[in-house]
Amino acid sequence: MPAVPFSYRDLYNGLDVIVPLLNGSQRCYVNLDNAASTPPLKAVESAVARFMTYYSSVHRGTGFKSQLATHLYEEARLKVIRFLGGSVGVHTCIFGKNTTEMVNRLALRFPFTEQKNVVLVSMMEHHSNDLPWRGVAQVLHCNVLPDGRLDEAHFDALLEQYRGRLALVAISGASNVTGYINPIHRLAEKAHAAGAQIMVDCAQLAPHRRVNMGDPADPAHLDYVVISAHKMYAPYGTGALVGLRDIFERGMPDHRGGGQVEFVTENEVAWTGAPERDEAGSPNTAGAVALAAAISQLEVIGMDAVAAHEAELTEYALRKLPQVPGLHLFGSSDPAWCMNRVGVIPMQLEGIDHFLVGAILGYEFGIGVRNGCFCAHPYLLRLLGVTEAESLRVRSDILSGNRANMPGLVRASFGLYNTTEDVDALVDALNHIARKEFTGKYHQNNATGEYLPEGWNPHFKRYFRWLD
Ligand code: ALA
Repeated sequence: MPAVPFSYRDLYNGLDVIVPLLNGSQRCYVNLDNAASTPPLKAVESAVARFMTYYSSVHRGTGFKSQLATHLYEEARLKVIRFLGGSVGVHTCIFGKNTTEMVNRLALRFPFTEQKNVVLVSMMEHHSNDLPWRGVAQVLHCNVLPDGRLDEAHFDALLEQYRGRLALVAISGASNVTGYINPIHRLAEKAHAAGAQIMVDCAQLAPHRRVNMGDPADPAHLDYVVISAHKMYAPYGTGALVGLRDIFERGMPDHRGGGQVEFVTENEVAWTGAPERDEAGSPNTAGAVALAAAISQLEVIGMDAVAAHEAELTEYALRKLPQVPGLHLFGSSDPAWCMNRVGVIPMQLEGIDHFLVGAILGYEFGIGVRNGCFCAHPYLLRLLGVTEAESLRVRSDILSGNRANMPGLVRASFGLYNTTEDVDALVDALNHIARKEFTGKYHQNNATGEYLPEGWNPHFKRYFRWLD
């Protein structure tokens, strides 16, 4: 594999942080938990810091700072729309906290009718693109194949069966568990042909691949896309929903308050148009600036370069990881197939609980991963082949306060700045764990499932101090 461009690492803050290990030594932290949250780009921090000089009220103030803040906030919307391949004017961009909030917003605002009230999601979804639809519509779950890929034949069958009643297909662009990239434009074409619209959860796709919503006249276009800035190197609390303006120009916003009305009397409210109608209260302008700055940086790098680098890194990992004795990879482990997935790799080390593997990686090797079900319980249960009876037993254990036997996997997920050295560090650590070469005495907390080693007492104040 060619040398990783050093500039990618140089673009980030926090990559050279030395963290304590259980045995009293220290090492440079290796973050392989990018599917959860990503570190900030320096360009993002710098843009937010520069913006703070001018920080002021948006939309309401008359002073110069308010004008500038409003201008930047509105420019951020345009940048998001263009980054996702939408069309300014046709599409609107609504800001909120994160992907979860944006899917909820669409779910609460989508104009379901008595005749058309079915939403098709998949078994692959993160809970954020499943639970918001339950309660507002009839939800169908498209199956996945045994290796976790979308079962497109089932998708087609459901479209056919619910033709005329299907209002929306809501599907992830890339899985936060297996990294699979769904054929979103093909699915869009099929959804439109069946008289439905499509929303793509691009939380895991947009940081890694070019997203192109496309021309609404094209049958393969995407009607709605949601993203989270904290997964795109801009951790300042912003999510965005980009979609056809139409439905946001009318109807009742789900959150109500300031900044979204034309006129209010004691008895009447005249709501304003999109996107402000769906942004109650003072918006997170710093978050919008941060997201726009991350987009600018990603565009300078080029999403094709991002994709190529991450595919090479994933390929490298998929060649190395199988060398760890007893390590099982889930989903596709084909190194030649990496352009069709993002760098999210779920795994299980034979005979060692996922909670324990995650803990040892953190406490003894300074490697951050995530373990568990990744807020995608139905998908994990399917991938792990958990039977209905086992699933009921797990549910009952959890509801009685015992998570010790919660099924799950360990997940490594890459960001643009990760290197082959990071993969080597993971492989080396897993090799040690597989050979039981770890030193800590771990005790599981049954309430959380997590393992804590004896003697772990980090001095957090050495790393971060408040002023008081
Ligand atoms: N979706 C995030 C993850 O997969 C929270 O970790």
